[in-house]
Amino acid sequence: MEASAPAKVILFGEHAVVYGEPAIAVAINLRTYVRIKKSDEYRINGYPMRNKYHSYIKNAIELCWDGEPLDIQTKSEVPSASGMGSSASITVAILTAILGMRDEIDEERIAKLGFEVEYRTQGSASPIDTSTVTHGKGILVHKEKRGNFLWKVERGGLRWYIHHIEVPSLKLVVGFSGIRGSTKDMVDKVRRFYNWNSFARDVIRDIGKVTMEAVKALEDEDYARIGELMNEDNKLLTILGVNHPMLKRMINAALKHSYGAKLTGAGGGGSIVALTDEQDEVAKAIEEVGGKAYKVEISKDGFKIENHF
Ligand code: MEV
Repeated sequence: MEASAPAKVILFGEHAVVYGEPAIAVAINLRTYVRIKKSDEYRINGYPMRNKYHSYIKNAIELCWDGEPLDIQTKSEVPSASGMGSSASITVAILTAILGMRDEIDEERIAKLGFEVEYRTQGSASPIDTSTVTHGKGILVHKEKRGNFLWKVERGGLRWYIHHIEVPSLKLVVGFSGIRGSTKDMVDKVRRFYNWNSFARDVIRDIGKVTMEAVKALEDEDYARIGELMNEDNKLLTILGVNHPMLKRMINAALKHSYGAKLTGAGGGGSIVALTDEQDEVAKAIEEVGGKAYKVEISKDGFKIENHF
């Protein structure tokens, strides 16, 4: 059975979403492909499965497979630990392949299992990444149920309502710093700040307000406003301590040709995303300061059964 899932870019609300604030993300046209078949021992790309290297895959298998061992091949266009959701993408691709083999494909089930895998592996997570790569297109996570509701995820006294959100055509460029950030470390760092400092809690709430303004700006297709709000969100994330000098260099380079730019994902390395009319210019500017640029498009497809290998 072969399956795939896209990567994602968080446009607004990373970190704050872990505390129940709203967030917006889109699936993008970089994908992870997997092929699984029954075997006599667990193997990933020809190597024995190890918790240290294959923790997401192992947790996904533990949650929904109790049959014979599996031989798993993976191919990914998504750089790992880049802030583009490589772990959510591989997790959802594996879950799709396993449920596909059992003829039990169901979007909500895949998204919820995906969240469970991330939560177990990272010790803390929101459902934004796994829901986005499951559904494709745009996702709004909100603490209240709104229009275009898809499903609800609950954990640790928090409740996230997942919604489809219509996003206008966006010309985005992702700049990968080459520095692999650990989502777990970054989420833990923000949690310590949040637990001990009321100012940090205010910043998290302000990120939530920026995200809700972005919902309106996206509806209005007001690119200048969306860009301003991305810049504002980036300032707030910097206060939370998740920015990095290399990300700042790429953001400054991108801003010369962009409506706005911000770090995306957990930060501490990883990537930035810029909204622009001039993707080539932005990509060039990012590469001039040492980043790797991806001119990305929003992916309509979430998880998919494939015939790729
Ligand atoms: C990581 O892509 C996004 C974070 O908000 C963590 C999460 O929501 O699970 C930093």
